[in-house]
Amino acid sequence: MASSLTSQEITDITARNTYGTWRFQKGWKPLHVVDAEGCYFTDAAGKKYLDFSSQLMCVQLGHKNQAVIRAIEEQARKLPYIAPGYATDVRAELSKMLLEVLPKGLEKFFFTTSGTEANEAAFKIARMVTGKTKIIARYRSYHGSTMGSIAATGDPRRWAAEPASKVQGVIFGPEVNCYDCPINHEYPACDIACADYLEHMIENESDVAAVIVEPVVGTNGVLIPPKEYMPRLREICDRNNVLLIADEVMSGWGRTGKWFAVDHWGVRPDILVTAKGITTAYVPLGLCATTMKVASHFDDHFFAHGHTYEAHPLTLAPAIAAINEYRRLNLIERAETMGAYLGKKLRALQDRHKCIGEVRGLGLFWGVELVKDRKKKTYFNSFRDKVSGVPAMVEKIAGRMMQNGVFIQAWVSHFVVAPPLIVTEKEIDEGVRVMDEALALADAEAV
Ligand SMILES: Cc1ncc(COP(=O)(O)O)c(C=O)c1O
Repeated sequence: MASSLTSQEITDITARNTYGTWRFQKGWKPLHVVDAEGCYFTDAAGKKYLDFSSQLMCVQLGHKNQAVIRAIEEQARKLPYIAPGYATDVRAELSKMLLEVLPKGLEKFFFTTSGTEANEAAFKIARMVTGKTKIIARYRSYHGSTMGSIAATGDPRRWAAEPASKVQGVIFGPEVNCYDCPINHEYPACDIACADYLEHMIENESDVAAVIVEPVVGTNGVLIPPKEYMPRLREICDRNNVLLIADEVMSGWGRTGKWFAVDHWGVRPDILVTAKGITTAYVPLGLCATTMKVASHFDDHFFAHGHTYEAHPLTLAPAIAAINEYRRLNLIERAETMGAYLGKKLRALQDRHKCIGEVRGLGLFWGVELVKDRKKKTYFNSFRDKVSGVPAMVEKIAGRMMQNGVFIQAWVSHFVVAPPLIVTEKEIDEGVRVMDEALALADAEAV
């Protein structure tokens, strides 16, 4: 549907009458985007941008994948909506496919329309099943925006919602971060004390229902745990009769070079939560997947949860098409090989720029950490800066990159480089070249 408004009016109305998320409203000048295809999107002036972060690390298949669009169109014609109490073709077909791609043993599904809601479902399920209330989360994490999920979010996006964590019974433990360890240990000598500390917390709290982790932390820095971490956490949860929730909203669907990040360590969580790449983000869908052991609790207990839009047919059809596309295009394997190429390029940037403290990644999921001082590991900006409206160095660099036709996600003091899984070497070269040029802004202030 073509708009009769001018591009300026569209930008003005968007900024004046709608909220810009996670930001100060003043100064928001949203770019008017009119088209997107493959790894690029286009603004109203016809300028093209390379999407080097798949928008919010979600457009896994790139823009305008025709098979997914067709699935949406066909489902809209066939059965756009029916209440969650009914069986549908797409609900059964998608469930069968999920059994094939999810870690073995996750067999019962609750469909939502966001990652946030999928985490809310996970928390309620964990509490109903265990009869316990507390949730252990970690500081460097994001689990969603509503009261339960923001309560479990460790980063400062939670602060405005407090005392949500108290009300919701969420307690925070140390994240796993081998670049900047929160408990000042060094791997491997530490023997992953950060995991053991979570057991100490469980033992000293009366009432822990679940531990939630992003197996590879996303927005908060693409933090990859040492190989022992997830298996150790699995053992700790088993030993203490606590459920393990893996939040794979961002790390799932091939992003790390496996279907799901937990596949790297052969760990099966009791509950796996995902969203984003499940429909390559064209339609809002989230998933809370549980084991049959968890699910069996509800055979004889009331399942006290639901939504009008649960198992919405229009959200399920594109997920089937997306999984077919991941397979047809071999994208899970491709993420591993293209990820190795991207990693090599980013590491070469580190050799040239003193402002890069660390480059880390898995598959097509990379974090580039900026520091003023490599030796002292001092950051340009803090988490407090982020919620106080202090302009961040990474945002300045991201702005320069946009001028030069590359979009990248910047957060506090790092970038999340996560192009669509269809990205080519040429496109990676282009993104890295533009980043290379813009990093001079930070080099000028680094020692
Ligand atoms: C790890 C993680 N969990 C949960 C969420 C929330 O998902 P949504 O924005 O779909 O509600 C996000 C969103 O970025 C995420 O990265």
